[in-house]
Amino acid sequence: MANKILHISALTVLLSCCVLLSIAQPNSPSNDSKKPGRSGIQQMNAFIDVLLKKMTIDEKLGQLNLVTPTSRTGPFATKNILLKLKDGSAGNVYSIMGTPSFMHSRLTLADSTRLKIPLLCALDIIHGYKTVFPIPLGLSCSWDTTLIEKTARVAAVEASAVGYNWTYSPMVDLTRDPRWGRVMEGSGEDPYLGGLIARAMVKGYQGNDLTNETSLMACVKHFGIYGAAEAGRDYNTTDMSRLTMYQNYLVPYRAAVDAGAGGIMSSFNEIEGVPATANRWLLTDLLRKEWGFKGIVVTDFNAIQELINHGIAADYQQAAELALNAGVDMDMASESMVASLKQSLKEGKVTIAQIDAACRTVLEAKYKLGLFTNPYRNYDPDKAARVSLTEESKKIAKEAVLKSIVLLKNDNSILPLKKSSNIALIGPFADNKQEMFSMWAFAGDIHSVVSIYEGIKKQNSNVVYAQGTQMYDDTFYIRKNHLQFDSVKQRQLISEALELAKQSDVVVAVLGEGANMSGEARSRADISIPACQRELLKALKATGKPVVLLLTNGRPLTIQNDLPYADAVVETWRLGTEAGDGVADILFGNYNPSGKLTMTFPRSLGQIPIYYNHKNTGRPYTEGGKENFVSNYSDQYNTPLFPFGYGLSYTSFTYGDISLSDTLLHGSKEILKVKISITNSGKYAGGETVQLYLQDPVASVTRPVKELKHFQTVFLQSGETKEITFTVTPEDLKFYNSKLQWVWEPGAFFVYIGTSCQECKKAKFDWTK
Ligand code: BGC
Repeated sequence: MANKILHISALTVLLSCCVLLSIAQPNSPSNDSKKPGRSGIQQMNAFIDVLLKKMTIDEKLGQLNLVTPTSRTGPFATKNILLKLKDGSAGNVYSIMGTPSFMHSRLTLADSTRLKIPLLCALDIIHGYKTVFPIPLGLSCSWDTTLIEKTARVAAVEASAVGYNWTYSPMVDLTRDPRWGRVMEGSGEDPYLGGLIARAMVKGYQGNDLTNETSLMACVKHFGIYGAAEAGRDYNTTDMSRLTMYQNYLVPYRAAVDAGAGGIMSSFNEIEGVPATANRWLLTDLLRKEWGFKGIVVTDFNAIQELINHGIAADYQQAAELALNAGVDMDMASESMVASLKQSLKEGKVTIAQIDAACRTVLEAKYKLGLFTNPYRNYDPDKAARVSLTEESKKIAKEAVLKSIVLLKNDNSILPLKKSSNIALIGPFADNKQEMFSMWAFAGDIHSVVSIYEGIKKQNSNVVYAQGTQMYDDTFYIRKNHLQFDSVKQRQLISEALELAKQSDVVVAVLGEGANMSGEARSRADISIPACQRELLKALKATGKPVVLLLTNGRPLTIQNDLPYADAVVETWRLGTEAGDGVADILFGNYNPSGKLTMTFPRSLGQIPIYYNHKNTGRPYTEGGKENFVSNYSDQYNTPLFPFGYGLSYTSFTYGDISLSDTLLHGSKEILKVKISITNSGKYAGGETVQLYLQDPVASVTRPVKELKHFQTVFLQSGETKEITFTVTPEDLKFYNSKLQWVWEPGAFFVYIGTSCQECKKAKFDWTK
């Protein structure tokens, strides 16, 4: 044993010497972190040990500091940013944007510092960089994790070529309240699907090797449970039981951590009375100790200073101490750590070991990205143009558009349209490229966007366009957002549109929310389509022409009262670069819609929060029942307008009955095979995402009425039947009990398979211990 210790320390000394020799050269210590196996980790540790010993306290605090030249995503920009990057008091930067050579001129500022430690350079790359994909909520409706991984890979290739090495994505906050503007950035309400998508995105950004020049380090956000902001109001308080957290909200963050995400962002909200950014239970006990997270914890924008407003810190010095003590490694924008931790150290409020630990985590991330050997990742000013918006990435974007679109209504099979139809294309989003993006697509190139009008025109020249309406007319909204509504112009726009509608065979109305109505700080207390647009829709319908409504929006909307004025409704979200070509393919039936909702559409605002995996309650209500004193509304259905998993096709799918390999199973080793046959009983070929849900009707804690456990997408020709098989194991029966243990309990279970969470076949089985 003694010999072994001697051997390891001799090795360490040797390594340290090599490292010391190379650190004398700017940015060039030996670094073989490609596969940080045991020896890779030892080398990394030895390298950082040496580096940390050389660093002054100011240099260490500089590494904890993350600055920004812009207030694009938060309340302010950092002052004197260039000086700070040059003198090392800021060791990381985000949201710088420009050409590769401009970016390079900023990144090389680190060369002016004594130790030339390279910068982490981050950006919110949320749904693509130059090639813009559908918003994440839309993409999640593809239920295609391979495709989603590809979109993240394209984004990483394009953004890394410009100089970024870190993205603030994936956003994996589970969401049950569409009033919250940020639902557009996530994957909806289901923990299982959310976890799969989180993992796919981390893999796409990071690739197999973080040192590869095309990899971006992922940053999972916003940890944690930010999506549960009360009343859907952004930055608001959250409060929930640990059971609900473990069972639902924490699942996607955990999946992203398990997939190896290099960073995680502490959120703005409080959890159990302590803001996430100061919450030691969250950031240390759960994240580091229970989940084994080894990457960087960065705060959200100015979240440390905001601890003062939350009411748990008297000043920024105390705020920085709380954050460090909780487990934060990097301070986004508030600069409280760099400004005050030295003083806190003197006063004995924090220790040098804590500062070293945080600094080490930041240096480790830089090491794992290979920045110490290749700080500018083979900088080539022409590469970005070569790798951006390639034919291949546009192809992926087009596939993403096709698969994100969800067909919500199609009376009398009005869709697909005949290619020869005379179309009146109406609406403020129909020929608007910018509106195909979201507030998070800052880098996207709008000239590359195919507008819906352009897309349709390529396939059918018999299309005429009119704007038809202004986007907004709500006086409160207009005043608050410094917009304008002109009622004279509105009448004129409507009458132009009606003229075109009357001369056409069919009206395609593209209506919904403006890009600025969803995203951060874009909560809405009324999630309907703005009244001026709804008025247009009614008028179009009154012409007697069939109306296809294409929704453009970032959240589920309350459209119950609009449905009578549309023969077909197509949910298109915000589709990005390839919007127009994809929409045209759907309208003309070149592609048969296959998207399925990942977030419930309420009938009315009062139903919110509304989600499919709710509990049964002690007084469950069966829709249509006449009983009194049961859990329902006296003025509204319990059921949503469109449930989770819902999405129509131009064809129809007929489900056979479920067949089980057994109805009585024993012990943890058995597996249950669940089979069902699906027939394409309509006239078009098409894809169907077949969903399997489980229900545990009697357990030691109450369980949801249904939980998604598996799904498979099948493609069937018209008339074709396929049998598909799912495998259920005791792992699928597990849940968190009241001691937060992940267990399964014996008993009876129901399995449901269907086309949505509501329309399912059902079977029962028993599983004993
Ligand atoms: C948002 C984050 C984002 C950060 C940096 C914040 O306001 O909440 O999602 O990553 O700004 O832009």
